[in-house]
This record gives sequence, structure tokens and C-alpha cells, in this order.
Amino acid sequence: MSTVTTLLEGRTAVVTGAAQGIGLEIARVLGVHGAKVVLADLRDDAVLEAAAGLRGQGIQSIGVQCDVTDEDEVRNVVDHAVTEFGGLDVWVNNAGITRDASLKKMSLADFRLVTDVHLTGTWLGVRAASARMRENGGGAIVNISSMSGKAGNPGQTNYSAAKAGIVGMTKAAAKELAHHGVRVNAVQPGLIETAMTRAMPAESFAAMEASIPMRRAGQPVDVANVVLFLSSGLAGYMTGAVLEVAGGRLM
Ligand code: NAI
Repeated sequence: MSTVTTLLEGRTAVVTGAAQGIGLEIARVLGVHGAKVVLADLRDDAVLEAAAGLRGQGIQSIGVQCDVTDEDEVRNVVDHAVTEFGGLDVWVNNAGITRDASLKKMSLADFRLVTDVHLTGTWLGVRAASARMRENGGGAIVNISSMSGKAGNPGQTNYSAAKAGIVGMTKAAAKELAHHGVRVNAVQPGLIETAMTRAMPAESFAAMEASIPMRRAGQPVDVANVVLFLSSGLAGYMTGAVLEVAGGRLM
């Protein structure tokens, strides 16, 4: 484990969609830098196991089952952070899904499902977290958008719309919350190697990877390090920003 533990020492962080992939890596990196972390995920067993794994690495963490589209379950995560770890300083809206299909083939149900998880889920997280943070004089919220929300991907009209929507929501919330000491920023990852992108056809993955100026797909830690920066005092004068973590793709 890194010896650097001061960036988030004494803070409590919540990461949604943290049972695996980018979310789990964000939780680990925030934990390595001193945060107590609450992992929230739809999948109960997986999130408890993920939190136990982090405890095994010396990070104070708990897992909580939560569907980010459910208002009460999102509030329950805030309550857990406060009762178990004494506060709420950082909230990362990371939970996400894809249901890719061309316009010809995409069902209305899959359009609604994807926009619901990303947009409603992020909105519920921003609302619940900021309510608690403003009472306590401040905090940092980081929303995970995507380069698909900047450039648009064929086969992802649902996902691209949702990820672009997260950018607008981030800026609106940042303006509302700035004078309460709550900063709201977003990250737009490019192609990152996780279960989500391993589900892509191999030739699509390779074609996308070939278009990256840095000539490689990103790793979850590449995203997690930028979330750490935005969560910490190093970014204390940043709000409403959207940072691309994409190896130069679509710059
Ligand atoms: P993943 O599929 O590996 O993990 C997503 C996690 O979110 C899973 O643990 C899943 O159980 C959880 N989840 C799904 N629906 C949920 C719900 N309703 N409530 C709570 N948890 C839920 O995905 P990955 O790749 O780690 O992606 C994480 C985030 O990063 C997502 O928002 C994704 O859209 C975004 N992203 C990923 C990129 C990539 O290349 N992998 C690129 C750009 C953005």
C-alpha cells in the first residue's frame, strides 16, 4: 500500500457501483489516501465481498446494497456513511450500465433503463449527498460521465444521451452548491479495460484502441487517480469542471 495517506485523511467517501471495475478501484485509491469508504452497489454479495477485500488491504470500508435509482436506498447509503464513519465528505456517482443497440433495434425499455441508472441515479446521489454536505460546511461530488457523452457513439444513443446529461447536471449543481462549499465535478473516461468494455466485440475494442493517441486503453487506476484529485483539497478551487481521462482520444 502507498505510504501517502494525507490527501483524504479523516474523510468519509461513498462510491456507487463499487463492487467491481472502475468503482472498486476508485474506492481503493481513495482508501489508500486515507478515506474511510462506503461501497454501494446493486449486487449485495459482491459489494460485501469487495468491501471485505479492501479491509484486508488495511482500508476502513463497508459495503451497502443500493440501487441508485431508488430514492430511499440512496438516502440509506448517506445514513450508513454518517452512522458508521461519522460524516460524508466525498460522493462518487459511478454506477452504470450499457444496453447497446442501433436505433432500429433499441427498445424503449433499454433507453429508459440506461438513462434511469445514469441520470436519475446520479441526480439522486447529488441531491442526497449535497443535502448532508451543505449542513456540514462542504464536500466534493464527482460524477462519472464518458467520452461517449462528448462525442456520441453509434449504438449508444441511450448511453451517450445519459452521459452528456451528466455534464449538464454537474454544471447546474456546481452553480447551486458552490456557495455552500460543495464542489461538483465530472470525469469523462475514454476506453478503460473493465467488464463493461470486455463485453464489446473484440474488433470494436481494437479499432477504438488504435484511435487513441497514447496507443493503449486506460486502466481503472487511471480514472481513480483523477477522481482522487477532484475529491481532495488539491482541487479546492475547481467546480463544474469536466476532466477527460482518455489518453488523448477525441481531444
Ligand atoms: P462495470 O460494469 O464493471 O461496473 C459497474 C458497477 O455498477 C457494477 O458493479 C454494477 O453492479 C453496478 N451497478 C449497475 N447498476 C446499478 C444500480 N442501478 N445501482 C447500483 N449499482 C449499479 O463498469 P465500469 O466499466 O467499471 O464502469 C463504471 C462507470 O464508468 C460507469 O458509469 C460507466 O458508464 C463509466 N465509464 C466506463 C468506461 C469504460 O471504458 N469502462 C468508459 C467511460 C465511462
